[in-house]
Amino acid sequence: MRITKAVVPVAGLGTRLLPTTKAIPKEMLPVGRQPIIHHVVEELIQAGITDILFVSSRSKNAIENHFDDYSELMMHLERERSAMGEVSRFDYRKRGVEFFFTRQQVPLGQTKPLGTGDAVAAAESFTGDAPFVVAFGDSIVHSHESPSLLQRMIASHENYQSACTIATYTVPQELVHHYGIVVPHVGEESQEDCRLADILEKPAPDQTPSRLAISARYLFSPDIFQRIHSIPPAPSGEVYLTDAIAAQISANAMVRAVCLRPGEVRYDIGNHRAYFKTFIDYALADPEYGAEMRSYMKDLLNELNSGSLDKG
Ligand code: UTP
Repeated sequence: MRITKAVVPVAGLGTRLLPTTKAIPKEMLPVGRQPIIHHVVEELIQAGITDILFVSSRSKNAIENHFDDYSELMMHLERERSAMGEVSRFDYRKRGVEFFFTRQQVPLGQTKPLGTGDAVAAAESFTGDAPFVVAFGDSIVHSHESPSLLQRMIASHENYQSACTIATYTVPQELVHHYGIVVPHVGEESQEDCRLADILEKPAPDQTPSRLAISARYLFSPDIFQRIHSIPPAPSGEVYLTDAIAAQISANAMVRAVCLRPGEVRYDIGNHRAYFKTFIDYALADPEYGAEMRSYMKDLLNELNSGSLDKG
């Protein structure tokens, strides 16, 4: 069965980016010329995804508006001949892509949604019997590789008939305690595409030699829903996707990791440091203004280093 469905959780509160995210969904923050969610959708379409479900919330209507047809704008742009190329890119219906929306409800008595596992559970009737992609709406995988990371993940998932395929990237050993880390099976030679023996949430550096961190992209068979329903919530009340994957591994299901290749970069914008770095990288690589931005940045750094600018 060709994999054509994707679930994009966007219902989180984005508290680490307050106060910006009080009224603007973090997934709508610009990265270069587009909101980050637009990059995510393009990445999905490029990998052959045609049906995209956003698991959203009351405060995230801007995402639905962004992917709306907005025909008056289209007509206006079509009249401006110079923008024609852009118009066809925004016309998702013509590109064969359909968007769906559902909400992750916050249970009575709770003040925040119950985590990424709970968000994915809201997609059960959308995905039915089909395997599907999960892509977090606040992360981009930048890839000029062909096939892209997501295409390689889909090929691996189909090839091994896996229950779960996780995107991973290599992080320094001393930083593993900041990440969800996956541990390859003994005897798995290549980390490019390997079967997993364990998944550890923020392990101490001496707890595992693995440096493969989980990277915001997953493929699942429908088996994941039963796992999500059967795991107990964490002490915080949240239902973590990683706990459901750990349950798949414990049940000896085929769970694999596909690793980013050199030159592929995972960006996330979940905190200010990561957001600033992501925005700077995209601005410096802009096809029209990148060279100017790089020169501006160079001059600015020179002035800062020479002490002629107030560092504020
Ligand atoms: P994060 O845990 O990084 O985002 O989720 P958050 O909860 O919004 O951020 P903070 O910690 O409050 O700053 C990664 C992705 O999963 C979605 C988020 O919207 C984000 O795109 N998510 C998270 C959900 O859809 N539901 C949840 O319950 C939690």
